Amino acid sequence: MTAAAAVAPATSAPPAAATPFRDLTREHGFEPLRLEGRLPEALAGTLYRTGPALFSSFGRPYAHWFDGDGAVSAVRFAGGRARGAVKLVQSKALLEERAARRALYGGYGSVAPGLRRFFPRVKNAANTAMLALDGRVLALFEAGLPTELSADDLSTLGERDLGVIPATFSAHPHAVPARNAVYNFGVRYGRRCQLDVFAMHGGTTRLLTTLPIPMTMVHDFVATDRHLLFFLPPLRLRALRLLMGFGSLAQNLAWRPELGGEVIIVPIDDPTRVTRFAVEPFFTWHFINAHEHGDELVVDLVRYPDFASNAWLGTVAGAQPHGGSYGTCHRAWIAPTRARVRFEQRSTLLCEFPRVAPAREGRRAEVAWVAETSPAAAARSGLPDGLARLELERDHQVSWQPGGGQLPSEPIFVPRPGAAPDREDDGWVLSLIYDPASDSSHVAVLDGRDLAAGPLARVHFDHHIPLTFHGTFVPG
Ligand SMILES: [Fe+2]
Repeated sequence: MTAAAAVAPATSAPPAAATPFRDLTREHGFEPLRLEGRLPEALAGTLYRTGPALFSSFGRPYAHWFDGDGAVSAVRFAGGRARGAVKLVQSKALLEERAARRALYGGYGSVAPGLRRFFPRVKNAANTAMLALDGRVLALFEAGLPTELSADDLSTLGERDLGVIPATFSAHPHAVPARNAVYNFGVRYGRRCQLDVFAMHGGTTRLLTTLPIPMTMVHDFVATDRHLLFFLPPLRLRALRLLMGFGSLAQNLAWRPELGGEVIIVPIDDPTRVTRFAVEPFFTWHFINAHEHGDELVVDLVRYPDFASNAWLGTVAGAQPHGGSYGTCHRAWIAPTRARVRFEQRSTLLCEFPRVAPAREGRRAEVAWVAETSPAAAARSGLPDGLARLELERDHQVSWQPGGGQLPSEPIFVPRPGAAPDREDDGWVLSLIYDPASDSSHVAVLDGRDLAAGPLARVHFDHHIPLTFHGTFVPG
């Protein structure tokens, strides 16, 4: 049963000093969370999320949001109650720095201190996304290996190479339910740059193929039932400058639109028969979904005209973030045999962190759930101030804004057990929200069929959790 009454929106003005961009102040194992409203009895499982939770190392502020040491939060729903936990990931690099009592590493946007700026080592911050794989809970970071955590108390168990990962494992694995499999990739930098493609099925992880690529950055890819698709942006890493200590990785990613982009299509059943061709230059952090349509591949994505969003992401954790750069929903029709891609903007909504119902991944989905930045929020920090349900087959959306300066995170859709397969919105939307009025964080539970009505329930931590990037829900 779900509650009839929705939770009232917050109305109090935020204190000027409240910010989610400050260090996590309390770590704990699972403990009861304060419940407001009524949780659906049928909502059962654990929401795991991760994000940067420390913003400096021994007096050295990180120069980019992406560099913060990760903390994993978990909210376990059962029987109309919720328990929550949050812990810093005890990465090797964090332990090393704490033992040395000084900063030792740089990061994506931060230059390593002293002589370490030359030939810098990567700190695996485990701060970007979560993957539940064969009973394991993994925190992901695109420049390193997955980090396994205990599902019991979120304690750190260590990095895992899953038997085959030579270097990195991206933060955006994609499940293909039709194959009961999960796919991912990693980028290997060196004299040559290579893209490793992985398949996880039946408890084992395989290296499907390795492809040469230009010295670029790839954050996400997308999968259909039959193909894995990679879009390479016209970013080029100035590797020599980086190795000589001139600037951070982010500062050495040059936007070169004149080079154009490239699409790589890997058939899952025959990964040696790869198709590659040029596409117009654009940037994307996140794909929404993809499906097969006759001999075409249809890809929905949050598209940006260029890489300016990276500079905004670098400053957003600071006191005075400069103007945002926003993505909107686009659709690409890809005809591999004709080496052609046609794009169309599908919505003018400023959005990020798209998700679809788990059963629709790799198949045609009609609904996507996104974090929305309203025009008013775009004029302030640029951070999302609402959630939206996007209709992918037509330009229509339904929004919900929590108000009061609250900052929602990526909405994760959880199907209601027993929902009809043709009702992909029959379930709940979960979002971890920071509320500056109370300087604390909570998970809002919304009805997917009526997002605009606001939360059925909120479950409150008694402290703040710094903003998170991505998460996953593990039913049961
Ligand atoms: Fe991401």
